[in-house]
Amino acid sequence: MIIDTHCHLNTTEFDVDLHDVIMRANTNGVEKIICIGMYKEANLKALDIIERYDQVYATIGIHPSYVSESYDETLFIEQLKQKKVVAIGEIGIDLYWVKDNLDLQIELFKKQLDLSLKLNLPVIIHLRNSAQEIYDVLKTYQGLKGVMHCFSEDIIWAQKFMDLGFYIGIGGPVTFKKNLVTKTLVKEMPLDRLLVETDSPYLAPSPHRGKRNEPAYTKLVVEEIAALRGLTSEEIALITTENAHRLFNFGGNK
Ligand code: NI
Repeated sequence: MIIDTHCHLNTTEFDVDLHDVIMRANTNGVEKIICIGMYKEANLKALDIIERYDQVYATIGIHPSYVSESYDETLFIEQLKQKKVVAIGEIGIDLYWVKDNLDLQIELFKKQLDLSLKLNLPVIIHLRNSAQEIYDVLKTYQGLKGVMHCFSEDIIWAQKFMDLGFYIGIGGPVTFKKNLVTKTLVKEMPLDRLLVETDSPYLAPSPHRGKRNEPAYTKLVVEEIAALRGLTSEEIALITTENAHRLFNFGGNK
């Protein structure tokens, strides 16, 4: 059994056939799905989905691209205390789309990191063109736990984040033929820090590249990692599922 540790079932891309998508994940061995929050409306939608589907869990957070949204910490804490909310995220710094608001992004990022320590919840980190900036923030904290989601930097950066206690999330891009950076990372990194994800509806793995991604395709990510490591898919599924349980503690005591 596999866990898709990062997907956005709460986007309009899944409005029409959400039920079928979740069932298809099931038949492809995906036993749990974590639906990731990004902004106020998406957070609410994630909370609605976890009410309806036992196998779906949620995270709540404000993504750096939504830095201008109002940040209501009281509401946030209330949402984060719900039993099936397993992490804060996704949060971080994104210097791909907008570069001139770094201070605001860091401020929002830190507020949510503080909250993760206060509530003892892991964080889902979004990193884009911002490895150094994120590292500089994270290293000022102690006791954080979380995952660097859909990690696309090299093994040297991965090691630095693992040294801070973080897991590395690997998704569809590892299946892309020319993506030697991620293939090398997956070959060399310790398996006990590896999580699998899809980031659906984005970043579909081969042979679905460019189309809508969905949690069922986590299986393709697991197969690729297994091939790279010379292990079976079952072994990779088992290891990454254990890792996910260790980090997210699904429905356990908060
Ligand atoms: Ni995402």
